[in-house]
Amino acid sequence: MLRVAASLGMGLGMLDRLQAQAPDALLALIKMYAADERADKIDLGVGVYRTNEGDTPVFKAIKAAEQALIDEQDSKSYLGPEGDLGFVHALMPYVFGQDATMGGRIEGMQTPGGTGAVRLAAAVAKAAGVTRVHMGTPSWPNHAQIFADLGLETAGFGHATGEGAANLEAVLAAIGDARDGDAVLLHGCCHNPTGVDYTNEQWDEIADALAKSPALAILDVAYHGLGRGMEEDAYGVRKVLSKLDEALVAYSCDKNFGMYRDRVGALYVMAKDADGLPAILSNLNALARASWSMPPDHGGAAVRLVLRDDGRTQMWLDELEDMRNRMRRVRERLAAADNEVPGLNLSALADQNGLFAMLPLAREQIVALREDHAVYMAGSGRINIAGLHAGNTEQFIGALKAVTS
Ligand code: LMR
Repeated sequence: MLRVAASLGMGLGMLDRLQAQAPDALLALIKMYAADERADKIDLGVGVYRTNEGDTPVFKAIKAAEQALIDEQDSKSYLGPEGDLGFVHALMPYVFGQDATMGGRIEGMQTPGGTGAVRLAAAVAKAAGVTRVHMGTPSWPNHAQIFADLGLETAGFGHATGEGAANLEAVLAAIGDARDGDAVLLHGCCHNPTGVDYTNEQWDEIADALAKSPALAILDVAYHGLGRGMEEDAYGVRKVLSKLDEALVAYSCDKNFGMYRDRVGALYVMAKDADGLPAILSNLNALARASWSMPPDHGGAAVRLVLRDDGRTQMWLDELEDMRNRMRRVRERLAAADNEVPGLNLSALADQNGLFAMLPLAREQIVALREDHAVYMAGSGRINIAGLHAGNTEQFIGALKAVTS
């Protein structure tokens, strides 16, 4: 067709000029895993929670809320770019604590997943004059992609030490270097991909440093409640906000409510004073309108119906606690295997949080794990702790031994 068009002097179309892009490596892993016919395959790739049976079921609390939604929802008419504000507000005490608005200085809007929230945060930061984002490395690969797509420069600092703890000096140095026009991106809890979180004492120092810095703080909270607990995991966000005039908080419910494909998120903004909020929100509204117009409703409405009902809320908190405890047991088993598989610093995993951990494996070892042992993990060496359970953890440890010995 193209050759015919060219021979007729029609030239190539504009879209023909596009260079092919590599598929997202993490999402490509989902397809590779699905195509593998080995019965004992282990999926430690994309960050979804799995039960001890290896399933990712819909939360019971969400099922109950969805049933209520079917019964109660009488219209699917438009809500507007801010989405379901009942959902946005119901989440706030969990994220920000009792004075959930910091005296009327915090407001939010619904976004398509945590990715939409990060994208909107970056876009409004850019509109406010941010040109560069400091971020710990490694980070969730999509962070850098989003910033690059918006034309924002990134400056990296090492997130974790070789011992598997957070590198406080590096983040403090980055904040110290930051100038007007910079933002600093921090993971609120359950760091993706390392699982290495700041301790409360480190958060105290980070908050003090940010308070003296001209940089705009952007906090990404995508795994709230999957580390130590809903309150415990919120320590860093609350501490930072308590010290700053303004900040952006991107929030995802895709993991802690299991809403992955429904894309449930929110972006919160804290303004210097309540009078400043409307102008900021009008910018968020305009950017959202130009991006996705309005967020998908269903998931946010279901989360609202969980959080507005005490029984469903307790059901959700119990389910979250079970998930957390199960992942903690997996971490403890892996840490106990430190002597069996030396060199990977598995003992550090016990103190880390959330779905992820990074194993210092070479590319060939990661390929050998996949090809010879049917173990699928990100090319960075990130494993999804939740992909391990009673039925496959020993097999995984055996595979690690095989590729490292
Ligand atoms: C992950 O890092 O695995 C998840 O956040 C899924 C995603 O969108 O990348």
